[in-house]
Amino acid sequence: DLEGSYSLGILFADHPDQVYAVRCESPLIVGVGDGESFIASDVPAIIEYTRNYYLLEHDEIAVLGKDGVHIYDVFGQLVEKELKTADWDVEAIGKGGYAHFMLKEIHEQPAAIRNTISARIQDGLPNLEECGITPEVLRSFRHIQVVACGTAMHAGTVGKYVIEKLARVPVTVDIASEFRYREPLVGEGDLVIIISQSGETADSLAAMRLAKSLGAKTLAIVNAMGSSIAREADMLIYTHAGPEIAVASTKAYMVQIAVMYLFAFELALAVGKIDADECRRLVKLLEQTPDTISEILEHKEQTQYIASSLITADSLLYIGRGLDYALSMEGSLKLKEISYIHSESYAAGELKHGTISLITENMPVIAVATQTALREKTISNIKEVKARGARVILICRENDTVDPDAVDLKFGLPEFDDLLMPMIAVVPLQLIAYYTSVLKGNDVDKPRNLAKSVTVE
Ligand code: AGP
Repeated sequence: DLEGSYSLGILFADHPDQVYAVRCESPLIVGVGDGESFIASDVPAIIEYTRNYYLLEHDEIAVLGKDGVHIYDVFGQLVEKELKTADWDVEAIGKGGYAHFMLKEIHEQPAAIRNTISARIQDGLPNLEECGITPEVLRSFRHIQVVACGTAMHAGTVGKYVIEKLARVPVTVDIASEFRYREPLVGEGDLVIIISQSGETADSLAAMRLAKSLGAKTLAIVNAMGSSIAREADMLIYTHAGPEIAVASTKAYMVQIAVMYLFAFELALAVGKIDADECRRLVKLLEQTPDTISEILEHKEQTQYIASSLITADSLLYIGRGLDYALSMEGSLKLKEISYIHSESYAAGELKHGTISLITENMPVIAVATQTALREKTISNIKEVKARGARVILICRENDTVDPDAVDLKFGLPEFDDLLMPMIAVVPLQLIAYYTSVLKGNDVDKPRNLAKSVTVE
């Protein structure tokens, strides 16, 4: 009788020894321990007690009692299910000495990248064959559509810039909640990439089902093993970030981008836009990102200082061009979701078409300028906002000389290749958001009004 998406745990007064649980779209697992069982929406909730669990399908009903767990389909027929074992350990879901999960997860990024890419590189070249992606498959797509929500959509936006630059295959990126209702123009010959940490985001799942029904091939880039999106996609690349507990996504974003790079390299090679030597050079750069990120993590004091300059702001802007613009979208979302300070990201060249009127005395503007070819253009936009009273915080290379009259604070990044710079430059943006939230005394890991998995529309 109930309509919508839900998972319920139900107690009956006349069945005091049993717990009933039912899944309708929203994820539900049943943990099986020693003489005890658990219901939860995701594995991290039960891992402290047991690693063994059943993953319920849509419309299945579990009965937990003294004699164990029994699962039934919607017609009341007993269902035989595989008991799964989570390979995460308890440490993975603890804070490991960090003040917050978010900070821990930021520090886990170098390891997460290595775990995600190493098994997908052979002889210095990307190899995604175990995910169902071969050069022949890649050559068959005339257009790529990326669909995702929030941070995952931002990872897709970085992917768009990289794929189009290297492989010259057109890529469009859409928010899943828009894509699913706009009668999208996808079908046979198109690849639809769905990116999701949880693999359970309701809009992304619905968008994927729609794309499949229209005849497109679907590729899921997912972190949570066995999740709905992972199970239903035609092709699947798991990111190996481990459990991400903080609502604000950091390490999941990082590995989503890492996978987008690997995919773009392999695609560019498959369609003949780069040769094997160039592909090897790019893969090598990708393999070097973890060390460079670790370097930043050892010198993060400047991000604390920048954060302390933001806490009194009511509103701020992030600006950049090209890949820096794609990245600034993520910087802005990260800051607003945990610091509760309003912020927007804007393509720097678009400011003069309206948004620059928002600039008032002392309004912070965080400018990202890592793309060499666009640097001078961004600097001239910085000067425009500075002239109107903005307080400019610049994220650029350590060695870049900056005009002290145009920039108030600078975060210097280690030298790195332009194309892969988003993986490096996102780290100070994550840290600035983190410290701003901490300094404001907010609940960093569980910001108000937000949930980790958005399983409702
Ligand atoms: C990121 O910090 C957010 N919590 C949110 O935007 C998130 O990325 C979005 O809800 C998508 O989630 P998913 O990756 O699990 O699909």
